[in-house]
Amino acid sequence: MELKEVLRFADEKVFSKTGKHLDDLQEAILKETLQGRKYATKVAQDRNCTEGYVRVAASELWKILSDVFGEEVSKGNVRAILERAKFYNSYSSAIGENYGTVNNNLNVCKERARSPTEPQNPQQTPKQLHIDLGDAPEIFTFFDRTSELSTLENWITQDRTRLIALLGISGIGKTTLSLRLIDGIKTQFDYVIYRSLRFSPTLDATLTNLLQIFSQPSEIPQNIETKISQILDYLRKYRCLIVLDDVQMLFSGQLAGQYKTGYEDYPLFFKLIADVCHQSCLILNSWEKPRDIARLSKDDRPVRCFVLGSLGVAAKEILKSQKLSDEETWSTLIDIYQGNPLWLELTATLIRELFGGRVAEFLQCEMPILDEGLQFQLSQPFGRLTAAELAVMVHLANQPEPVAMSQCFNKIPFSPSEIVNAVRSLGSRFLLDVVEEEKIILLSLNPVLKQYVISMSI
Ligand SMILES: Nc1ncnc2c1ncn2[C@@H]1O[C@H](COP(=O)(O)OP(=O)(O)OP(=O)(O)O)[C@@H](O)[C@H]1O
Ligand SMILES: [Mg+2]
Repeated sequence: MELKEVLRFADEKVFSKTGKHLDDLQEAILKETLQGRKYATKVAQDRNCTEGYVRVAASELWKILSDVFGEEVSKGNVRAILERAKFYNSYSSAIGENYGTVNNNLNVCKERARSPTEPQNPQQTPKQLHIDLGDAPEIFTFFDRTSELSTLENWITQDRTRLIALLGISGIGKTTLSLRLIDGIKTQFDYVIYRSLRFSPTLDATLTNLLQIFSQPSEIPQNIETKISQILDYLRKYRCLIVLDDVQMLFSGQLAGQYKTGYEDYPLFFKLIADVCHQSCLILNSWEKPRDIARLSKDDRPVRCFVLGSLGVAAKEILKSQKLSDEETWSTLIDIYQGNPLWLELTATLIRELFGGRVAEFLQCEMPILDEGLQFQLSQPFGRLTAAELAVMVHLANQPEPVAMSQCFNKIPFSPSEIVNAVRSLGSRFLLDVVEEEKIILLSLNPVLKQYVISMSI
């Protein structure tokens, strides 16, 4: 596709969404990137500015394009996303139907995005859908998560991502979101499977369990290598969506994301899922970021990480469903409890039972209050922390303001290496907030974790 055409298309789309055209700098960055070149040096030289300045402008540009195209755009995927969007755009105008924006094309153009190995005309070969959700919890209520669902759906159906890590602190809604996602896209698969690894099964046990869905018990081989290769065959032959939940149960009490002894073959299996060509997708839910996945999720590989955050204003629906009052104060409550649906559910029950549902009265207490259920919830990830991680948490819990990394040394009785590793690990457990302010990295704890650590250290 002509470079000029792609540039013009990007500019038109940005203009129709933001009312502004791409400026010269943005166009130069895009042009260099689309030609597969390292843009920063060249653009900085041509425009007589610093590379840092160009990088900041580029990061702004990727944000704008992400917003316009409804999926995360980076220098590594911008060309593919623009070309695909342009293709769909021309396709929808060619057949003269109103398909709306590129993002809305999702459902319409799925067939176009399929791999060449799939049947030419899927309508002629209707497939049978096998769903096995095992012991997945039933979802009774589900609020919002529209953009999260759309991004994940894009990754799976358009980008053909083979391995996705759905990450976030306990209670943030990973299980709920993945089940809702399954519900939305299941008809595009031959097999949809959900399994929880909460009892830490070995890889051998997990593979046997999965193979039982595809074949007779007598056909399941004994040897683990043959099991892996059989599973990969099924993932090639059928389009499967497999969610493995509670992956953190494979990790030990060492630094975050390290596999327990005896579980080291899981990362090898996950790497094969990422590297071997097939038409399926494996989603791993975890409240610790698996180390290997972090390494595998480079721009050019079909592996992504999605960190689930606050439920945002939609969390008001949780408070509404508990019939709480003082709606004007709900946003404060949601902010304090980080938009975490589970934390808010537990706290809303407490407010209903002991404060007659009056949120304003509850907020007059010293915040945040952690009910027993919430404390138990938090005790699980805390039970895994190393001594150095705990020391970092205690130090941060006692700071009134966020602190720089260097301020942690000398104050915590561990070596700088141990402290640095502990901070990294806490980040991978989503227990630490890291923000950058004027090139200074600042560390802090959210109010709920702070309160928990303080109450624990008394
Ligand atoms: N989008 C949502 N709308 C309504 N309720 C939600 C939503 N997301 C999560 N919840 C509720 O929050 C609670 C926690 O959600 P969930 O179990 O999915 O979290 P999780 O991230 O899987 O936690 P864990 O890591 O401990 O397994 C559940 O009671 C669930 O019903
Ligand atoms: Mg869960």
